[in-house]
Amino acid sequence: MSDHSAAPTSCETTLSRRIATHAARLTIIGQGYVGLPLAVEFAKAGFSVVGLDTDPDRIAALATGRSHVPDVGSEELQALLRTGRYEATAEPAVLAESDAVIICVPTPLRKSKDPDISYVVAASREVATRFRPGQLIILESTTYPGTTEELLLPLFEEHGARIGEDLFLAFSPERIDPGNPTFRVKDIPKVVGGLTPACTRLAAALYREIVPRVHVVSTPKVAELAKLYENVFRNVNIALANEFSLMCRYLGVSTREVIDAAATKPFGFMPFYPGPGIGGHCIPVDPLYLSWKMRLTGYEARFISLADDINRAMPAHVLSLVGEALNDAGRALKGSRILVLGVAYKRGIGDTRESPAYEIIATLRRKGAHVFYADPHVPTFSVDGTELKAVEPTYDELRAADCVLILADHSEFDYTAIARDGQLIVDTRNSIPEIQGSRGRVVRL
Ligand SMILES: NC(=O)c1ccc[n+]([C@@H]2O[C@H](COP(=O)([O-])OP(=O)(O)OC[C@H]3O[C@@H](n4cnc5c(N)ncnc54)[C@H](O)[C@@H]3O)[C@@H](O)[C@H]2O)c1
Repeated sequence: MSDHSAAPTSCETTLSRRIATHAARLTIIGQGYVGLPLAVEFAKAGFSVVGLDTDPDRIAALATGRSHVPDVGSEELQALLRTGRYEATAEPAVLAESDAVIICVPTPLRKSKDPDISYVVAASREVATRFRPGQLIILESTTYPGTTEELLLPLFEEHGARIGEDLFLAFSPERIDPGNPTFRVKDIPKVVGGLTPACTRLAAALYREIVPRVHVVSTPKVAELAKLYENVFRNVNIALANEFSLMCRYLGVSTREVIDAAATKPFGFMPFYPGPGIGGHCIPVDPLYLSWKMRLTGYEARFISLADDINRAMPAHVLSLVGEALNDAGRALKGSRILVLGVAYKRGIGDTRESPAYEIIATLRRKGAHVFYADPHVPTFSVDGTELKAVEPTYDELRAADCVLILADHSEFDYTAIARDGQLIVDTRNSIPEIQGSRGRVVRL
């Protein structure tokens, strides 16, 4: 791999000009939680953007201006479709006409908990087989360190690409927090690491058109690891808060009161809170990409294993809290009516991937409880092959439940009414206000 920082090739000069003038045509592969907001941001900045996805239903919805992610409004999408600067397609032929391609496909785990990199490979192959000199390719999917260089680069080289000369390849992790109105794509600095200085220059130039700050690192591997460090940090600190809540229970003190007190320290402390278990496509998954890679080198990533164990044990802990609370009220789990509030993995969104609600509801049902759920973002929820339909958390539903179990603290729920009308509440998000009469009926983590 040579250093081309001194003399830009004609490909670099041309692409650089096309980026600066917004004439560059972009394709964003994967129109999910990450790819769609990114495509919209580039289209809003004046680029011509194609959103490419293999899911025909998703493409059909997007093509008619229906958004499925909380960070993109359907009206906003419709306006962009009208300008012609955004279009959605399932036809990969569009890749051959693209100046820059950004890959935002899923990186889940296999059943064995090893990385499933097949989506990244499939998408990259689609691009590589249509490679045209002068293209910039950026991988945004979260992945193990080394993916860009070890996996993507050879695919392009097989098709005659010369890195840093006529092919520009970089990694730039996506850091979006779906449903977070304060930090959207345009507010979050981008980390960029290219395989050569020219790759980095072009990728950084492209992102500078939509974000306030680009932080350049020396290699894609650094950028890949930076993303994993962010999510391991979060995973480990959530695990610490979860274990702390177990210790506080033994010691008979309120976890929240302890955390709130510690959080008054203006430096060196950042509060994390316990919950019913981790979910989503990132926090439970990404750290295992790193531990897998490290295991190949003979190194056991101990913090990651421990945090994973603690976090994955939280649904069982929540189940034991429900069982104990019912027992204290003189009832058995079997035959009890349980109203679960929130089945998404966190507040404010309808994403149920890896949600602890699956394990919790499945176990409650297996033990003979009658489970109902309310979630304004999730109209139906399938557990063990049975499709449940959301109910409204009305006065009657709250009164009828032997136990109300709060798993996701959506802002749409009326917590004062829940505290008032629920007979027994297990609140895993500390969302119930301390109101008169609720004491003793509310169990918190
Ligand atoms: N969701 C988040 O909060 C978040 C945040 C930061 C980073 N990430 C990372 O971003 C990546 C994408 O995550 P997501 O949440 O957007 O996933 P998603 O499942 O919401 O969207 C991925 C899309 O890619 C499409 N797809 C799969 N294979 C394809 C292919 N070969 N060609 C075209 N389209 C294809 C799927 O149909 C789907 O629409 C993952 O690596 C994830 O770890 C996610």
